[in-house]
This record gives sequence, C-alpha cells and structure tokens, in this order.
Amino acid sequence: MTDDLDALATSVTHDVAAATDPRALDAVRVAALGKNGTLTALLKGLGAVAAEARKERGAALNHVKSRIEAALDARRAILDAAALDTRLLAERQDMSLPPRPAPMGSIHPINRTIEELTAIFGAMGFAAVEGPDIESDWFNFGALNIPDHHPARQDQDTFYLPGTGTDGRPLVLRTQTSPLQVRTMLSQEPPIRIIAPGRTYRADHDATHSPMFHQVESLVIDRGITLGHLKGCLTDFLRAFFGIATLPVRFRSSYFPFTEPSMEVDIGWNKRTGELGAGGDWLEILGSGMVHPRVLANCGIDAREWQGFAFGMGIERITMLKHGIADLRPFYEGDTRWLAHFSSSPLAPATLHEGL
Ligand code: DAH
Repeated sequence: MTDDLDALATSVTHDVAAATDPRALDAVRVAALGKNGTLTALLKGLGAVAAEARKERGAALNHVKSRIEAALDARRAILDAAALDTRLLAERQDMSLPPRPAPMGSIHPINRTIEELTAIFGAMGFAAVEGPDIESDWFNFGALNIPDHHPARQDQDTFYLPGTGTDGRPLVLRTQTSPLQVRTMLSQEPPIRIIAPGRTYRADHDATHSPMFHQVESLVIDRGITLGHLKGCLTDFLRAFFGIATLPVRFRSSYFPFTEPSMEVDIGWNKRTGELGAGGDWLEILGSGMVHPRVLANCGIDAREWQGFAFGMGIERITMLKHGIADLRPFYEGDTRWLAHFSSSPLAPATLHEGL
C-alpha cells in the first residue's frame, strides 16, 4: 500500500476513535466516505491512473475503505452501548413513586340501590329471591287475582310473547315483580319474609317511562301479621334508605287486586326544590297492602292460619329521588361521564343508617 493511503487510513481511524457521540462519528464517516469524502475522491480519480497500475491501486483503495468501515462499525457499537447505558441509568425506576391508578369498574346506581335494599331488609330478616323475566300470564296476573279481562291488565301495557308456558297460558315479559309472591308461596312453607328485586317490562317509552325498568317486591307471611307490621316495616325502611330519621311517611287507602286493604305510601318532600323530608308536600312512592285471601288460596295457604303483607316499588324512582337524578334515560345509556358521577365504588360499603 502506498504511503498516502496508509496515512489516510491512519488519520481516519484516529478520528473514528476520537468521536465521542454518534453524530461526531457520522461526520467522520461523511468526511471520508461521503459524496465529497477524501476516499471517495481517490476512488473517483482511479480512472486517471495509468492502466497497468490501476488494478493494484483499486485493490489498495478498497482495502482502506474496508478498514475504515470496520473501524466505523466497531466504534458505533461502542457508542450505542454507552448511550444505552446512560439512558438506562437516567431512566431508573423510582420505586418510591405511587403506582398509576388502575382503572376500576363501578357499581351502577340501580345495582347500588338493590344492594342497599338487600342490606336494609337483610337486617330485618328478609331473604332476597329472584325469578324469571318471562312468566306465564297466570303467575303475572291470574294467581294475583287479576283475571282475564280485568282492567288492571290494560293498565300495564303488557309485552305478550309467542307460545304458551308449561301451564298452557300465554307467555308475557313480567310487568311487575309481584309474580315472585306467587312463586315464593308455592315453593316455601310460611313463615316467609322475602324481597325480590328484578327487571320488569311494559310497552311504554318516554322521559319518565322505559320499556324495561326495575322493581322490588316484598312479601311477609306469618301468624298474626297486621297492618301495623306493614306500616312499621315500611316506615323503618324508607327512613333508613333515604337517611332521614324524621322522614314523614303517609299511608293512603288505595286499590290493588292482590291486596285487601291496599295502601299507597307517600313521603314528605318539597315539591318545588325536590328536597325530601321537609316542605309539606307528599310524593307517592310505593304500593302495598295485606295479601288478599284469594291470592293466599291460589298458592295453597290457609288464610285462617296465615296472614301477610306485600309491597312493591320502582327501583329507578327511589334511586332518582335519593340522588337527585332528573331523567330516567341515562340509567340505560352507559354514558361513562354520567356513570362516573352517579355510580359508586365497589369497595364502599352499602349505606346502612344504624340506629334509625
Ligand atoms: N305490582 C304493583 C305495580 O306494579 C306494585 C305493588 C302494589 C306491589 C301493591 C305489591 C303491592 O306487592 O302490595 O304497580
């Protein structure tokens, strides 16, 4: 190899070794091998070399080029490794930092109300039961003393389904949770104390009605049950659920086919502000009554020995009143902003107002 090439190779490899970061290294590469690089210029000049010397000169140039490239590669590997080390040092985890909050699901306000109902009535000795959404019309109406052609059937815009149940009666989506009274009396011996929360369906849809909504039913059957038990139980429940120890509760005579006597229950509130417990206005909140002897008879219970009371209420309604929710529709829309506001942490215990 000629001296000029040897000197060039030595000088470039010296520069390579002196480069302390990838950018400086690249500048060295461009100065030697780039379009206007020193070695590139020599390669370009090969054409002017006398034919007999050209082959040897070419080989010498390529040899220098390989040497330089090898030096560049080796240096780049060193610099990359060093850069990685620096980064790893700088990015060291601070183990004292708190973890990022993990996204956590939350309890829908309807389910929350069901949990609260179950807790409050559970403390009073009631068990929670469930039943099917699809009923034969005998469970939904007939056994509850609502015979065919009874006007109460029209009140509840019923979704009828094709086909019939095992009893040969038409199938319906249950319009109320009251069939759970019948199912429970047929499957359990008294004494009975149950609540039955669940979905109910009516062909009705506007700002205050949804074709699917929720009710909770309750049934108590025992010896010597009176209206006094019904009033005491519901007053305690309403005051515990709304967290107002002095909540006014009013029992008003009414009519349901499956109870006799029947009563609607009102709570005191302020109609103008929506505030519960004060204001002198009354708001109807649920239906109740003493179980009709004919319903007991339909379920094989001797009305001379056993008496009972029942009640039913809308879960959306009491949830809206408790939390000041004005519109029914967002309950079913799954808007995460609404849910973030009204749903609750699965870790928070159900509110039980002790001592009310
Ligand atoms: N099932 C009735 C409704 O959907 C509510 C109801 C009223 C249930 C009185 C009862 C009761 O158990 O005794 O409107």
